[in-house]
Amino acid sequence: MKEKLQGILQAAKDELAKAADSRALDAARVQFLGKKGELTALLKGMKDVAAEERPIVGQLVNDVRAEIETIIDRQKELIEQAALAHKLESEAIDVTLPGEDLTLGKKHPLNIVLDEFKEIFLGLGFSIAEGPEVELDYYNFEALNIPKDHPARDTQDSFYISDSVVLRSQTSPVQVRTMETKKPPIRIIAPGRVYRSDAVDATHSPVFHQIEGLVVDKNIRMSDLKGILELFAKKLYGEDTVVRFRPHHFPFTEPSAEMDIQCYRCHGEGCPLCKGEGWIEILGCGMVHPTVLEAGGIDPEEYSGYAFGIGLERMVMGRFKIDDIRLFYENDVRFLHQF
Ligand code: DAH
Repeated sequence: MKEKLQGILQAAKDELAKAADSRALDAARVQFLGKKGELTALLKGMKDVAAEERPIVGQLVNDVRAEIETIIDRQKELIEQAALAHKLESEAIDVTLPGEDLTLGKKHPLNIVLDEFKEIFLGLGFSIAEGPEVELDYYNFEALNIPKDHPARDTQDSFYISDSVVLRSQTSPVQVRTMETKKPPIRIIAPGRVYRSDAVDATHSPVFHQIEGLVVDKNIRMSDLKGILELFAKKLYGEDTVVRFRPHHFPFTEPSAEMDIQCYRCHGEGCPLCKGEGWIEILGCGMVHPTVLEAGGIDPEEYSGYAFGIGLERMVMGRFKIDDIRLFYENDVRFLHQF
């Protein structure tokens, strides 16, 4: 009996020492101490032991059981320590590693200036209007008093989708669409994409952006137009900006004008930026033609208005001294990060 117990104890020691995780440890516990385990089996043989020896053997069995339990506890501790060490090692953080370089995105230069533009006009009580880029010939030309034989209608200039549908070549159609749906007083700006069948070069792109402005109310005069545009120019280009208005012709305004600002680089002296002119053309404008007011369902006897149209790219190129329009659309981050 004694020998058997010693055998079991030795076997348990060997087996437990091999248990490398808690599952193996459990299996070993069942094998030696479980109900069907080896020690229990041995106890069943107690009846064959002489009565006077039973307490001694009983004591021995208990000692062996206690020793096995101690070994299990110790082994369990070893397994837990090993698991913790492994976890610490695998989750270790090297605080000396350099951080990952996160580059922040930036606003596109067109949006930088467009947002300033919007802020100026929203501050003056204007709201923002929109119109479709795929536009009816009627709104793009007809309703704007651009007759059938006007050169602007030439298919060279505009992308026609059908006889009556065109990719809008200007944002001016938003004027008529707005007048059709809103009653005066009207005070809107309409930024958006426009399309022209131009060959791509440093100053031309078949897609670019314009911002339209329209004000219609009672007693609107040319001086209102001049006042608001001069104020806008000073806000965008600086308080000391000098502007001038030159007579011009647009079919949808009468009278019409172009507004120039005095060259902000040479202050009128003449330099490469203003091509020796001393002035830089900024926008077209004028008093809304009575025919256009009528097309918008507004009585020209009762109301008058002014309108203006600005090319966004040209404005931004001047502002940031960008000499090639194609840079706006290439999205080269080396370019975009400069603004
Ligand atoms: N639509 C004109 C163009 O694309 C720009 C323009 C000029 C708009 C005068 C206007 C305006 O509203 O009054 O060249």
